[in-house]
Amino acid sequence: KRIAVFASGNGSNFQAIVERINTGEIKAEIGLVVCDKPQAGVINRAKDAQIPVFSFNPKDYDTKAQFEAEILAELQKREIDLVILAGYMRLIGQTLLSAYGGKIVNIHPSLLPAFPGIDAVGQALSAGVKVTGVTVHYVDAGMDTGPIIAQKAIEIAEDDTKETLAEKVHQVEHVLYPEVIQKLVSK
Ligand code: GRF
Repeated sequence: KRIAVFASGNGSNFQAIVERINTGEIKAEIGLVVCDKPQAGVINRAKDAQIPVFSFNPKDYDTKAQFEAEILAELQKREIDLVILAGYMRLIGQTLLSAYGGKIVNIHPSLLPAFPGIDAVGQALSAGVKVTGVTVHYVDAGMDTGPIIAQKAIEIAEDDTKETLAEKVHQVEHVLYPEVIQKLVSK
């Protein structure tokens, strides 16, 4: 199977997926990285891994449908089967949902449906919950709302800060996401 990874930031989840492909734990190929932030760290990581990148600036387009049409053309050109969102900070629109419905997954740093949207780690700390976690789910038109595929809980320690908790979250993500991706590509 051929996958595309969409990311807006650092790309540590992208890196974890690349590593699991290199070890053979994920039997798939990353055919494309899509990035909406031309300066994002994930772009250099993709170049280092010799994976093609489609990066764009949403401000150069009038509508989401316009840039998603370009993304869709890239996905089709590269015969992508599965879209992996890994810190892509943008809702997926109808253009991509119509073409790739049920084939787009996301990872979110909370136990959904708790704490959707931005800064889920900060939201969990502010709420004072003692357990948070990570969710992998199918993507629909909502914000972090699609059917849940897998979750893993993380205990919040008394002295956790946003930095230490975010670090724990990332550690869990880097294991859980590759596991789920391998299951999805082996179906
Ligand atoms: C992750 O915490 C992911 O759950 C969220 O965005 C973050 C991306 O981190 N959606 P990275 O760019 O993979 O390091």
